[in-house]
Amino acid sequence: MPAAPVWDPGQYLRHAGHRARPFADLLARVPDLPGGPPRIADLGCGPGNVTALLAERWPTAHITGYDNSPEMLDKAHTEHEGPTPGGGRLDFAPADARTWTPAQPYDLIVSNATLQWVPGHAARFPDWIAGLAPGGTFAFQAPGNFDSPSHRLMRELAHSPRWKDRLAGTLRHDDAVLTPGAYLERLADLGCTVDAWETTYLHLLHGEDPVLDWVKGTGLRPVLTELGDGAEEFLADYRAALREAYPATAHGTLFPFRRIFAVATKEA
Ligand SMILES: C[S@@+](CC[C@H](N)C(=O)[O-])C[C@H]1O[C@@H](n2cnc3c(N)ncnc32)[C@H](O)[C@@H]1O
Repeated sequence: MPAAPVWDPGQYLRHAGHRARPFADLLARVPDLPGGPPRIADLGCGPGNVTALLAERWPTAHITGYDNSPEMLDKAHTEHEGPTPGGGRLDFAPADARTWTPAQPYDLIVSNATLQWVPGHAARFPDWIAGLAPGGTFAFQAPGNFDSPSHRLMRELAHSPRWKDRLAGTLRHDDAVLTPGAYLERLADLGCTVDAWETTYLHLLHGEDPVLDWVKGTGLRPVLTELGDGAEEFLADYRAALREAYPATAHGTLFPFRRIFAVATKEA
């Protein structure tokens, strides 16, 4: 069984601007919350920077970010925990999304760029919807880019004769997430009004090997964790393949990135 990926908040935050945009697009579709002050959970909160954005939309809310990475939680505690300017509160706690069940009713459960790390996550939806207050919302965004060159090339290299003995089973497959339609159906079956969609962002990245730099913060974590100090040889081959797939242009390096969104609101 591969080790759980070790996260590096500093590396992850290097592309924080691009990564925050889908979260803003997700929140734009979340309706007003039923009661006040709202109770909000952010599942897979990472370093807490997007969790903190929730306090801008709901200034009086008590917001709790949950994550199972000690490194990410440490960063979130240090940088973002405490009272919020509008009179609310932001805190963070360890939890595993594979088993987390709301211990109290939430007005909003949100999850950004996390559920792709949680195998079988759709089977958790009934518990999460049951944990919403009447009229509450469950909203998430997950990457839908597992057959894009960045991930396909990573898998091909990991499965090549040179690496397969060490990396077999380390990477998620291209079925890490469902289609927007499948999510819509699952959540509508639970009695929710659902808005589901997908968007392909065209991130224009700058600097040397920017796609490698991006995936080092996320998709490549399981490989980096498994190979440790011996990752350089893998990175050399992967870097070369990425340069071909994502050539630098006069304007920068274009990195198309498909993302899947769903906003499910429980009957009031
Ligand atoms: C790509 S980061 C997203 C962080 C943050 N939501 C954001 O949008 O910047 C994915 C996060 O999911 C967390 N994660 C992965 N599997 C998890 C699980 N089973 N339970 C809780 N958190 C998990 C990781 O530790 C990491 O912080």
